[in-house]
Amino acid sequence: MRSIIDIYDITTNEISELIKTAIKIIEDPAAYMEKCRGKILANLFFEPSTRTRMSMESAMYSLGGNVINMNNPASSSISKGETLSDTIKVVSNYADIISIRHPLEGAALAASRSAAVPVINAGDGGHAHPTQTLADLLTIYREKGHITDMTVGFCGDLKYGRTVHSLINALLRYEGIKFVLISPYELRLPDYVKRVITEKQAALFETDSLDDAIKDLDVLYMTRIQKERFPDANDYRRLKGSYILDKTSLDGAKNDLTVMHPLPRVDEISSAIDADRRACYFKQVANGKYMRMALIMKLLSTDWQSRETNADSTLEQSINEFECSNPRCITGSETNLERIFERTEGSVSDWKCLYCESAPIKK
Ligand code: NCD
Repeated sequence: MRSIIDIYDITTNEISELIKTAIKIIEDPAAYMEKCRGKILANLFFEPSTRTRMSMESAMYSLGGNVINMNNPASSSISKGETLSDTIKVVSNYADIISIRHPLEGAALAASRSAAVPVINAGDGGHAHPTQTLADLLTIYREKGHITDMTVGFCGDLKYGRTVHSLINALLRYEGIKFVLISPYELRLPDYVKRVITEKQAALFETDSLDDAIKDLDVLYMTRIQKERFPDANDYRRLKGSYILDKTSLDGAKNDLTVMHPLPRVDEISSAIDADRRACYFKQVANGKYMRMALIMKLLSTDWQSRETNADSTLEQSINEFECSNPRCITGSETNLERIFERTEGSVSDWKCLYCESAPIKK
């Protein structure tokens, strides 16, 4: 069963296929109204969401399908101690496709291993968020006309910002992308994402100053400081408000800069710039629905289901020999889950947790 857990699960050709399909949907939505007639999407949201949940729902309805929701774990059998794996086995009987958001990293992969239907990761802790990346890629494509040869700045919480991790992994496939990482020292990109940038020898520049970096950027991807992921609330209080994009900071930027943000924003983008033509974050929301329509439709097709995917890894695996070092990994709470670690490819060969990609510790 083919699932979409991270952007790695979609080939570059398939990204182009999704973009083409989304553009066709935008041009003629009526032609897609019956594409998923009779199909059911189950939205399992263990964490708050406005856009992702509602856009999945809106996407499925616009394809003629139906949606069932589990938004409140407190009112479901999870509160009675049911494992994620059992919940997924049960929900597989009610739906043709599942989308899941969970606060623990690796939860979507764990869910897909118990599911009898395709699973879409709608955000797993601070790890990955591939459908937001599809929205982001369509936005870049529509704004710039291409996804190559540009300088892309990521600003804010690069440590816990899952949308940043998935988008960087996607952009690394395109030629001529320069990455500018703008964050406080404590919120730098995790090693497992940075390692991929280094492996691919992409141009990379790190700074803590948005004002210094902004003049060179073609795309600026702002992010919220992820309050809910901080183990220590004092650290959050110290770091919140680190960056605020306002009219003055935009004065130093290119005229054709594309300002993006996955939303919700807190205070990192002043609403005074919403009317600036460079502000594209509400366009991203619209693009997200169309890309999710394209994804749901394709993932339910026998064509996509029959294709080879990365799911069957050829990397060397070690099972139950290590523990994951990440306290927010699903392996810490889903005790019946096999603890699988893979040896990474490339010059820096190291073990990583299959679920959350963090380094393991020897048992
Ligand atoms: C993001 C998320 O949930 O990761 N929002 C979204 O899905 N559009 C960003 C965030 O919560 O900051």
